[in-house]
Amino acid sequence: MVYLKELFKNDDWKREKHVPVIETPLEVKRGEIFNITVNVGKEVSHPNTVEHHIRWIEVYFLPEGKNIPYQVGRFEFSAHGESSEGVEGGVYTYPHVMCNLKVDKAGVILASSYCNIHGLWENSQEIKIED
Ligand SMILES: [Fe+2]
Repeated sequence: MVYLKELFKNDDWKREKHVPVIETPLEVKRGEIFNITVNVGKEVSHPNTVEHHIRWIEVYFLPEGKNIPYQVGRFEFSAHGESSEGVEGGVYTYPHVMCNLKVDKAGVILASSYCNIHGLWENSQEIKIED
């Protein structure tokens, strides 16, 4: 048996272009809206061509003390065009998403992404509640 969890990869996003980079305040106020972004290829850019691109990013929030995450969002991307280099005659998505959240507990934001050639990647970032 192969488990999906064994197929997710992680690494230092400053070296590895596939790791979803989560940007969020590290401390938020209970019930107050805050902004997060998730970006694949922030430091080392990903090709984003017809042949090689990120298909989706998913974002979850796992409140402290729980073991089932809430899905925040799923963002799907595509690349279409005549040029494999992604320069003319098409549309090529850059996988960078933004959303606003509010939470009432500390927890962990988790993000996953899928490259059509290099598979599944994940990352997470803990957030605290300001007292
Ligand atoms: Fe890739």
